[in-house]
Formats: sequence, C-alpha cells, structure tokens
Amino acid sequence: MSLFPQHIIARKRDGHRLQAEEIAAFVRGATDGSWADYQLSALLMAIFLRGMTAEETAQLTDAMMRSGVVADLSHVPGIKVDKHSTGGVGDKVSLPLAPMVVACGVPVPMISGRGLGHSGGTLDKLESIPGFQTGLSLDAYRAQVKRIGCALIGQTKDLAPADRTLYALRDVTATVECIPLICASILSKKLAEGIDALVLDVKFGRGAFMKTLPEAKRLAEALVAVGRAGGKQVRALLTAMDEPLGRAVGNAVEVAESIACLRGVGPADLMEVTYALGAHMLILGGVAQTTDEARSRLEASVRDGSALACFREIVTAQGGDARVVDEPERLPAATWQVPLVAESTGFVGDVDAMAVALAALGLGAGRTRAADRIDPAVGVTALVKRGERVERGAPLCVIHANDPTALAKAKAALARAIVVTDEPPTLPPLIAEVLL
Ligand code: URA
Repeated sequence: MSLFPQHIIARKRDGHRLQAEEIAAFVRGATDGSWADYQLSALLMAIFLRGMTAEETAQLTDAMMRSGVVADLSHVPGIKVDKHSTGGVGDKVSLPLAPMVVACGVPVPMISGRGLGHSGGTLDKLESIPGFQTGLSLDAYRAQVKRIGCALIGQTKDLAPADRTLYALRDVTATVECIPLICASILSKKLAEGIDALVLDVKFGRGAFMKTLPEAKRLAEALVAVGRAGGKQVRALLTAMDEPLGRAVGNAVEVAESIACLRGVGPADLMEVTYALGAHMLILGGVAQTTDEARSRLEASVRDGSALACFREIVTAQGGDARVVDEPERLPAATWQVPLVAESTGFVGDVDAMAVALAALGLGAGRTRAADRIDPAVGVTALVKRGERVERGAPLCVIHANDPTALAKAKAALARAIVVTDEPPTLPPLIAEVLL
C-alpha cells in the first residue's frame, strides 16, 4: 500500500475506504508538517464529498487523539465524566453544571474552547471573572482534578494538535459541515482529556451549528457510535436552540446568570437543560440509577449550597476573584445599560437566537476572527422568552454596551429579533430526544 499523499487522496477521491495506515499517515502529515496544506485540504474535500464509514471515522478520531498527549487521570478515583455542547447562543450550561455534578461526587475534567462567530465560548465567559486563569498546564489540570474534582481549562498546545491544523484548513476550504470530520474533531479533543464517559448536548435550530433535528440526530448518532468505539460511555441529548438559552447573552452577564442558576433562581430553560445533562452525567458517573434520582441529587446540591461552594472553590483554585460569587456586581459592567421596550402589548412570538447572537457580537461580546479581543462586559440581559406576555412600554431586554454606535445598531437588530404577536406561539419541547 502506498502512503504517498497523492495516492491516499486519489483513493478517497475515487470512493474507496481508507485503511488505518492511510488515515494514520494523513494525521501524521497534519501533525509534523510533512503533508503540504494543499494535500491536507484536498483529502479533507475528498472526505467531505465521499464520506467515511463508522470504522474510518473511529480510526481518524483515534489517530487525531494520539497526535498529542492523552491526559492520564487514573490517579483520580471515580468515573470521570465530561459534557460537550455543539454550541449555541446563551449556552453557559458548563458553568453551573460542572460544580453541581462535582458536588454530587462525580469528577468533571473539562477542557473547553473559545467562542468564534455567533456562538460563545466557555473560556471567554470564565475569563470575565477578574483573575480567572484558563491556561493551566496539563500537570496543573491533573492536580486540580484530583484535589477538587474539577478543572475548567482551555485546550493546551499538546492536546490533539492535528485538529488545530485540520480545523484551520477546514474553516477556509468549506469542509466544516461534514459529520465524520466534525466527529473526529470534537471527540479527539474530548477523549484526550482522560475521561471515562461523555454526555453530549447536540443542539439544533437557528442558533445552532445543525439547523434541523434530523441533521442534529445524524451527528449525535455518529458521535455516540465513535465515542463508544473509543471505549467510552456516551449519551447524547438533542436540545432546541431557536431562542437563546436563558435570559443573558454575553460573557460577564452569563457568569452572573450561571451563579443565579447555582442559587436555584436561574431561568427555567437553563435550569432544565442543566439538570437534564447533569442527570445523565450522574448516571454514567455511577452515583445514581435513574434520572429522577439523579435530578433530586442535583437539586439538593443547589438547595444546600454545595454546588455554589464548589464553583467558589474552582474560581479560587484558578486565580479568580471568588467574591463575584456573592457579589456579582464585581464582574465587569458596561457603561450603558439600556432597555429595549415593547411597542405593543401581546405575547413574545419569537426571539431569534442567531439575530441576538449577532447583536451581541456587534457589541463586542464575541469574535469574528480568532485573534479578536472580546469585551467581557457587553451583551444582553433580561431577555423575554417565547410565550411570555408583554405590555406595551415594558422592557424586552436590557442592552449592555460600551460604545454608542454599537448600542444603536444592537437596539435596531434586537427590535427585529424579538417579535410580539397577538396569540401565544406553540412551543416545541426543549429536549427533543435522548440517545442512550
Ligand atoms: N467543534 C469542533 O471542535 N470541531 C468541529 O469540527 C465542529 C465543532
């Protein structure tokens, strides 16, 4: 078998299954630079057009995971469980979820990403807490998971380096939306964390990567199959992302909402998704048998303050100012905090997640290029939810801005994104399906 790049590319171009050695050669080429970017890109496009079998996808994931360090957490007792979301608007679930699950006795090693484009990133949110460090070394990560059961960090250079090269090429060669490539990209990073089990939140809708439930389900099924082929326990929830999750979109404002969630007073939809994902994490972590039992334990961790105490411990361990937990006014605040009011009385018929995300992006809450700096203080809070009744002149949301021009643009965009109707809309379930 030839392992020359052009021969491997030709085989996939012509619709053949690649052998494990060919896949390994491709991943090695992406890691050590021995394949040129145009050769990597050509194979990515051939995979995009021809697809990959489940076996090829599992082999690609494994090779990408092994392109760098695979964290060893065998010194941490218990079943280590993480959660991964395919990304949405206002999706701050990781922040309240990790401490709740840890407070219930399951270690949560979590390596997250930054936001790019319309969807926010857990790291950017956490870094809006003054002093919070997400750039821990793998040794510091391992030590913290052992000591307090959780670390919330960013991807290190040595974790799945092949994905960094391949993702950057996919981004500029129209090869992102490809299930085998998405699976290998997500799971190579997650499996390198040293976890035993994973719960996936695969989102669908206007504010998600996958726009429809059938598409999201195809991705979820592939992720579950490949994760299991990698020897992990995996479950997936399919959750709706047509309107933002919760009432806050931004960074510091989402930390404040996460703290409210840990106090048990978060918005109903955010509490719902957090408890649902957490329940499956507790079951996979071996500390609960049923979702009802798991949910009761999670609720108890909120009621008795142990989840909030765990969040405080994580913030302190990672150099953050833990006083924000009790005094959220210590989080960065924007100069202008201006309500957008309803022009008519009625029901909230729609809150377009993508439009809200783009308004927040325009305020500076996100980035359009990896090198952009974000403004931690800006965003949107007090967003109305679909189905709620509103009176003319009442606020539909509050815009947090540091620039008057950006404020005016966001106001106009949000006025279009939030639609008030005479009749209440029919609301689909938030959690459409669970793949066990
Ligand atoms: N997130 C990832 O990490 N990789 C993808 O390919 C898509 C989403």
